Amino acid sequence: MNATQEKLKVQLEQAIVAAFGADFAGVDPILVSASNPKFGDYQANVALSLSKKKGLQPRAIADAIALKLDVSEICEPPEIAGPGFINLKLKTAYLEAQLNAIQADPRLGVPAAKTPKREIVDFSSPNIAKEMHVGHLRSTIIGDSIARILEFQGHDVLRLNHVGDWGTQFGMLIAYLREVYPDALTTANALDIGDLVSFYRKAKQRFDADAVFQETARQEVVRLQAGAEDTLHAWKLLCEQSRREFQVIYELLDIKLTERGESFYNPLLSGVVEDLEKSGLLVENQGAKCVFLEGFTNREGEPLPLIVQKSDGGYNYATTDLASLCYRIQQDEAKRIIYVTDAGQGNHFAQVFQVARKVGWIPDDVELVHVPFGLVLGEDGKKFKTRSGDTVRLRDLLDEAISRAYADLKTRLQEEERQETEEFINEVARVVGISAVKYADLSQNRTSNYIFSYDKMLDFKGNTAPYMLYAYARIQGISRKGDINFKELGNNAVLLEHETELALAKYLLQLDEVISSVEQDLLPNRLCEYLYELSKKFNQFYDRNQGVQVLEAQEPQRTSRLILCDLTARTLKLGLSLLGIQVLERM
Ligand code: ARG
Repeated sequence: MNATQEKLKVQLEQAIVAAFGADFAGVDPILVSASNPKFGDYQANVALSLSKKKGLQPRAIADAIALKLDVSEICEPPEIAGPGFINLKLKTAYLEAQLNAIQADPRLGVPAAKTPKREIVDFSSPNIAKEMHVGHLRSTIIGDSIARILEFQGHDVLRLNHVGDWGTQFGMLIAYLREVYPDALTTANALDIGDLVSFYRKAKQRFDADAVFQETARQEVVRLQAGAEDTLHAWKLLCEQSRREFQVIYELLDIKLTERGESFYNPLLSGVVEDLEKSGLLVENQGAKCVFLEGFTNREGEPLPLIVQKSDGGYNYATTDLASLCYRIQQDEAKRIIYVTDAGQGNHFAQVFQVARKVGWIPDDVELVHVPFGLVLGEDGKKFKTRSGDTVRLRDLLDEAISRAYADLKTRLQEEERQETEEFINEVARVVGISAVKYADLSQNRTSNYIFSYDKMLDFKGNTAPYMLYAYARIQGISRKGDINFKELGNNAVLLEHETELALAKYLLQLDEVISSVEQDLLPNRLCEYLYELSKKFNQFYDRNQGVQVLEAQEPQRTSRLILCDLTARTLKLGLSLLGIQVLERM
């Protein structure tokens, strides 16, 4: 609900009390956006629900409320329509004043959170020695956008990279490398991630096939956990190697993260199991320590336990998540913890959260949220793969987007007979390529699967990054053409007359509502939809036939319209920045 809606709601509540007495204090006026813009901007539907209570016709109730309603500063006189809706239409003067106010506001009218919170966003979180895959790409893009929005709202956000840097895979890998490439375990930079990944695969094959090797690998895990110097050193080198590769991706995507991997929580795991033991929740099952939970069963309907310690004494992914949960609440003092992973981990988080709640680790003021997302599919609707059937390397994927954007731009420049420097072309291609990938991901409702298509995401038409970037650059073009400095347009100059001006103005004023909804629901696609709709409203306003003249208009309209242009551009720039997308002044 934005500030205007809040004011209207308060006035309606007061009018209800004035009409029917103090017993009716706190009755929700049921204020919603108008079902048809012809009738106004908002409507209050309370009369229908009050009618039974009062034994009166809804229309009579609506009339009685309207009579006491004082909204003259904000709205035209209320009108009663249909069975008893109270229709409210914002006054043009009110809209003008709102726009004048946001013109001077770098936050464009979006209030910061009243009570800033410490929030943790756990995202990206790839696994060491394995390649970052498209699932991690989604987590990285969505998690970053959520973090940006929360930061913008003034929250104290900790962006955590919960990398998989511990566990049995290292025993395997180290044991294997000792045999085939011992230098990799003592010398920095001896491997690149491609090698690391293929060594990992071979180590795994070996592990699965060879019992003696299995034992050697286990010994390495024990040595690692006991902190044996050579094994620990080897482990560090492997982590650094992976980290360097991940960093390349993060830099390309302009993502900031604090790494706090699974290994960080290793010293806390035995304590977690002890606490569970004390709480009486632990059950021994075939030598493993488990917690049984309501609502989790396997296909045969048998109860599905959460295993926190395996029969060989080793701990699990879930044990680490329980430890990190405690740490984040007790040490980081987080009030909301957000986990961005594929929907496939839904059960895992539901179980971890339930166990933590049962043990009493979660205070009432702490919120735990799993933010799930769907799969990335190829254009054939199947799992996203290269032509040869391999998993796609993220670097290749991003490079491909950039090089396609580069080729498109070259063609466009030729068609438009434009000369640009190579530097300009490279920069535009980089921004367009990366933005296209990010936007394609963010503009989908994250819970559904999405089809990865370079052609679609790079299209200048439709709900895409290039469309949005172009709308922004087009507005900057107006300022260049008219030699106008948007920063010096004067204040209190907004004047709304034409239908397309009003429509654009009202839309510009809805940014705060959208942002606060994303802050709640963690669905960045709502912000994408808003920006797309805004660009369309702008294009209607600026359209030669349906819209108005801008540079050619007379004063005072000219300045007012230029302010609308500027506000649109600033809203796009701010909104896109919250999606992790950078704008271009020219493209
Ligand atoms: N490393 C995990 C994976 O690649 C994701 C970790 C997500 N975060 C967490 N706290 N479990 O699937």
